[in-house]
Amino acid sequence: MSGPQSGPYSPSTPSPSVETHLASQDLREAMESDVRAGLTADDKWLPPVWFYDDRGSALFDRITRLPEYYQTRAERALLDSQAPEIAARAKADTLVELGAGTCEKSRVLLDAMRQTGILERYVPLDVSDGTLRAAAASLAADYPEISIHAVVGDFHHHLELLPPDGRRMVAFLGGTIGNLTPTERSTFLFNLDCVLATGDSLLLGADLVKDEAKLVAAYDDQSGVTAEFNRNVLRVLNRELDANFNVDAFDHVALWNEEEAWIEMRLRSRIGQRVGFPTMDLEVEFAAGEDLRTEISAKFTKDGLEAELWASGFVVDAMWDQPGGEFLLTLARPYC
Ligand code: SAH
Ligand code: TRP
Repeated sequence: MSGPQSGPYSPSTPSPSVETHLASQDLREAMESDVRAGLTADDKWLPPVWFYDDRGSALFDRITRLPEYYQTRAERALLDSQAPEIAARAKADTLVELGAGTCEKSRVLLDAMRQTGILERYVPLDVSDGTLRAAAASLAADYPEISIHAVVGDFHHHLELLPPDGRRMVAFLGGTIGNLTPTERSTFLFNLDCVLATGDSLLLGADLVKDEAKLVAAYDDQSGVTAEFNRNVLRVLNRELDANFNVDAFDHVALWNEEEAWIEMRLRSRIGQRVGFPTMDLEVEFAAGEDLRTEISAKFTKDGLEAELWASGFVVDAMWDQPGGEFLLTLARPYC
């Protein structure tokens, strides 16, 4: 962050504390290992975590404002109307947020929790270092009476490093739970259940199964922002691993997989290309028309989600959705 003389914040502005668990060497090793596993598979895939460098986070932020992308507005509307009740039920002194990003929607929760008079601390966790730091600095300025402790980390690996004290509500918003495969989801929820104690709660934002055309449009917008976000993962690999994807030769593809109830995001190479990863002694061949799966976004039903939560140690306290059933907020608690 900038020094007191040169920065945009005055010396009296409270600064957030930032804890980093992602050293650049570890990130590089994790990226190399994902590339080796995903790009040498018969059906090529990559995990979504590598979308989110500074540019990727900025593109995602634009996605949240697209006319076709209903999720952010739907979740925001639910939070606007339900945050006081959520705060009253959770009675938390600490809000932990996983995959917090720009922390925009968190403000609605923080405002309601502040009203309860017991809110002390906000702990956003995200892999996107620059975006998280900027968000935490802006929140520290706007919420001087609570302590802001940002954690640069991976929610698949660093849950046990979250503050163990206090009465916590863990928010996992934006439908990010749907970006995990069913196996990852149950492991993640089970691990989260293990670090939570009696009195803690989980606030989960999940997208609901709906009309296919509406779903596909949300992931394939007219203005091409989602396509650019999708291709960003290749730019990240080119930069970080010195790879040579011909990025512009990849088309963005979004399709609804009915059987799995998820949207799949793919990148389809229009041409045959051989991609080199010089630091890894690896070359990967793409045939013309071959796909790389970059993301899934699973859509849920209320009953299905309740059953998944139960299987991982959570009991549902309350669920809220809109009349049209666009999006679902769930407050759950560990049951043992
Ligand atoms: N919660 C925000 C952002 C959702 S986008 C919203 O609702 O709008 C998903 C966020 O999760 C991004 O900020 C991304 O950087 C973060 N993320 C993705 N994979 C992650 C991981 N494995 N660990 C921590 N953060 C992750
Ligand atoms: N959590 C968001 C979702 O599933 C992430 C997302 C939105 C996304 N648009 C995307 C991921 C496009 C990849 C590509 O809706």
